[in-house]
Amino acid sequence: MTIAIDVHLPADQAVAMEHDVREGLAASPKELSPKYFYDERGSQLFEAITELEEYYPTRRERQILVERAAEIVAAAGNPATLIELGSGSASKTRHLLDAMRDAGSLRTYVPVDISEEITRETAAALVEEYPGLDVHGLVCDFEAHLERTPTTSEAGPRLIAFLGGTVGNLYPDERAAFLTRIAGLLDPDDRLLLGTDLVKDPGRLELAYDDPAGVTAEFNKNVLCVLNRELGGDFDPEAFVHVARWDVEHEWIDIGLRSLVDQDVRLGSLDLTVHFDDGELMRTEISTKFTRPRLEESYAGTGLTMADWFTDPAEDYALSLARLAR
Ligand code: AVJ
Repeated sequence: MTIAIDVHLPADQAVAMEHDVREGLAASPKELSPKYFYDERGSQLFEAITELEEYYPTRRERQILVERAAEIVAAAGNPATLIELGSGSASKTRHLLDAMRDAGSLRTYVPVDISEEITRETAAALVEEYPGLDVHGLVCDFEAHLERTPTTSEAGPRLIAFLGGTVGNLYPDERAAFLTRIAGLLDPDDRLLLGTDLVKDPGRLELAYDDPAGVTAEFNKNVLCVLNRELGGDFDPEAFVHVARWDVEHEWIDIGLRSLVDQDVRLGSLDLTVHFDDGELMRTEISTKFTRPRLEESYAGTGLTMADWFTDPAEDYALSLARLAR
């Protein structure tokens, strides 16, 4: 067993954020990237969301893995290497690792995550739990450095897992570009395992993103606290209200913050004053929901094609396996 962790965090992350936020606030309508939700408090609030009765995706994804990991691993050709994008604490991953170990194929786990601390902790825990496992972690923003994931598959097929439904946060063009880049990493025997939430009753969808206890509202407003801290801002979170509505045309949940008053917000680091009208809506996230045909369509033209489809019995959520299109 060995552990290696490569760190590829750009020194200019702060500059990238400044650029991104400046652009998003100049756009009409205004928009912030959901990647800024996840500071320490934001990550804790997201954890709390996953425990809410109304927020089913995390539970459903885990259920599919618990019930069908062996099937998934067999369908993926008994991979030797599991590469996980956005691995975090790898709690759901263990079901896949267990199935790979039981199939006798498990050799290497490659966690790819933006947090060095979590990646090191996870790597240390997993080599204890899986005797003989090699962990080769990558600390990077995988949106920027996807191509740095190891590309050797001498030991057997590789499985790239992108769980949690995070692909739903991308706009269709960004999603296509991302899947095209994944295709560039795959050999013919390799597979992508993609987690996607599914279209369902709009009432249930909206409740999952606007829980009565207000945890999601806190999570959403936390992005303003992140901007205040990182960019010298003076956003008043109380002056905005959380909005989450089902966009039936795009089949995504549209999440934003609506200004409750006519107000000016100052961002010192950007030397920028931004005006919000009373009632103005700033988008903070989209969360796309899929149907099987829509996902098949999403793969079309990216160099990938859907090979297998696994859902929970209620068909709330899907894990799909994709391979290179021939
Ligand atoms: C972790 C990005 C998949 O879109 O469901 C949860 C984030 N936002 N509640 C999602 C989220 C509001 C979540 N993802």
